[in-house]
Amino acid sequence: MNIDSIIKIVKEAGDIMLSARRPKVMEKSGHANFCTETDEKVQAFLISRLGEILPEAAFLGEEDGQAVFSSKMASGYCFVIDPIDGTSNFLFEYRPSVISVGLLKEGAPYMAVVYNPYDDMLFSAIDGQGAYMNGDRIMSLDSPLAESLALFGTSPYYEELRDRSFDIAKRLLPLCVDLRRSGTAAWDMCCVALGRCGLYFELKLQLWDYAAAALIAREAGCSVTDIDGNPLSYTGPSSALCMARGVKEIPECFK
Ligand code: IPD
Ligand code: CA
Ligand code: CA
Repeated sequence: MNIDSIIKIVKEAGDIMLSARRPKVMEKSGHANFCTETDEKVQAFLISRLGEILPEAAFLGEEDGQAVFSSKMASGYCFVIDPIDGTSNFLFEYRPSVISVGLLKEGAPYMAVVYNPYDDMLFSAIDGQGAYMNGDRIMSLDSPLAESLALFGTSPYYEELRDRSFDIAKRLLPLCVDLRRSGTAAWDMCCVALGRCGLYFELKLQLWDYAAAALIAREAGCSVTDIDGNPLSYTGPSSALCMARGVKEIPECFK
C-alpha cells in the first residue's frame, strides 16, 4: 500500500469539488446539518477508486446512509472518509472545505490524507513517519498558548453542547492571542499541525471528522486527545483537543 496512490485519488476528488456549481442540497438530522449531491459524488468516487487499490479494505463514509462503525472495521484495513469536511462552508462558498481520508489498520490510524483543493494544500502522514504538506515535512508550533491563535468548533449538530462549548471558548480567549472558527474540523487540526495555530478543541466530532487529521497532527508533534486528555476513540464519536508542541498542559478552561 502506497500513500501516493491515495494522494492521487484524493486530488482527483478535489476536482469534483472545484467544478461543482449550485449542488442540490439534502438536510440530515441535527441543526443545519446538510449534505449536497457533491458530498455524495465525492464519496462514491473515493470508495470506488480506493477500493481498486486496496480491495480488502472496509469503508466508513459520512454519507453512506449508515455511517456506523461495525466490528468488521476494527480488523484489517478500513478507510474512514469525510467527502467534504465543511459542507456549510461549501454551500455558502465560504472557504475552506477539505476532503478527508484516513486509513485504519487493525483499528488504529495508519495513513492519512487531507486536501484543501482551493489552496492546493495536501496534508499527509503515515504512522511513525512524520507529517507532510505538499511533500514538505511540517511541525507544530513550539510557542506557548499565550503567543498562539486558538481554534474551536461549535459542535453545531449537538445543541446540548452549545453552552459548554462557548463557556470553554470564553475562558480560553484570554489565554491565547485570539480565537478562530473555520467551519472544518479536519482543516483546524491540519492548521495546528502546520504551525499556524497552537490549539483546537471541539466537544463532539464523528470519526470521519478526525480519523485523518488527528494522525497528521500527532505526526507533527501535537498532543491529540479528547478534552480530558484520554486517547481518541477509533470506534465512535469523541471530543477532541489538539495542542501544538509548545502547549505543554491542558489549559485550565477545560477543567
Ligand atoms: C463539520 C465540520 C465543522 C465541525 C462539525 C463537523 P461537516 O463537519 O467539521 O467544523 O464544527 O463538528 O461535523 O458536517 O461539514 O462534514
Ligand atoms: Ca465533517
Ligand atoms: Ca462532511
